[in-house]
Amino acid sequence: MQNNVRPETMKRITTPALAQAFIEEQLAAIKAQVGDKKVLLALSGGVDSSVVAALLVKAIGKQLVCVHVNHGLLRKGEPEQVIRVFRDELDANLVYVDAVDRFLDKLAGVSDPEQKRKIIGAEFIRVFEEEARKQEGIAFLAQGTIYPDITESVGVKAHHNVGGLPEDLQFELVEPVKFLYKDEVRVVGKALGLPDAMVYRQPFPGPGLGVRCVGAITRDRLEALREADAIVREEIGKLPETPWQYFCVIPDFQSTGIRYVDGKGERYMGWAVVVRAVNTVDAVTATVPEIPFSVLCTIRDRIIATVPGVNRVLWDVSEKPVATIEWE
Ligand code: XMP
Repeated sequence: MQNNVRPETMKRITTPALAQAFIEEQLAAIKAQVGDKKVLLALSGGVDSSVVAALLVKAIGKQLVCVHVNHGLLRKGEPEQVIRVFRDELDANLVYVDAVDRFLDKLAGVSDPEQKRKIIGAEFIRVFEEEARKQEGIAFLAQGTIYPDITESVGVKAHHNVGGLPEDLQFELVEPVKFLYKDEVRVVGKALGLPDAMVYRQPFPGPGLGVRCVGAITRDRLEALREADAIVREEIGKLPETPWQYFCVIPDFQSTGIRYVDGKGERYMGWAVVVRAVNTVDAVTATVPEIPFSVLCTIRDRIIATVPGVNRVLWDVSEKPVATIEWE
């Protein structure tokens, strides 16, 4: 029976020195638990799985097999960053799985948000399981479980729920950050030398852009969303204080635009994208921060100039409640 209660004596990790002590302790614990066996990890590129990967690479090197599944719903540059940091810089054993077509084909025509989530979650497990079967001698499964995942009944890591793996793939778990809160995981990530873009990454839902490409996902709308989202993150990311979460949504309706061809105005239908930014402590309630109008105008201009098919940019001022943070 796994102990899932944070020891009362455990200090909060707030400084590099405390992080270093935690890292040393965990390296020894991982080595003792794993021995010379192999460990499998689903590496999404989020803070938690990245910190676990970096810890395990330090502890056991190539005995760790990281699997990064690109389901086509990641943000611009994310798969490349995972490959650069883990394969190129940390020399980790990284299996990159391009499953874009599999996911998008399964999602074609599906508009119900919960159905979309289910398909993404189930397909993720299927792809991960296939990769697990290709590897020989895996004895452990590492997971980026953090303390709130244990203490809060509504976990947001449903897509990592490898409880869905078949019986012959039930591995013993390695969960080195399971007693840490998010801020502590970030301090540890910094001490491990992970890049700020990974350590301070804003929360990103497991189903990714899938829940921000409203309704049935189409490839053209998904690409427009990915490009617009990169612009929103870049521009809002320049603010001295960045909101807790900021991103882009693409609804599944079009509206009229006008363009000039040979000096002649022509009406046409195009997509609208929605800019959303929120502040929250626990994601249960959320407020909308003031974003300078000039920043919104820069975002508008860049999106209109560079993202094909988009002719309108909207700013969502809805608070939670009553609007949820995500649109689906
Ligand atoms: P909502 O939209 O419910 O979002 O106000 C609250 C927080 O949860 C994230 N979120 C998800 N995370 N899988 C996830 O891993 C999901 O299906 C999911 N839906 C919402 C959302 O981004 C926000 O931070």
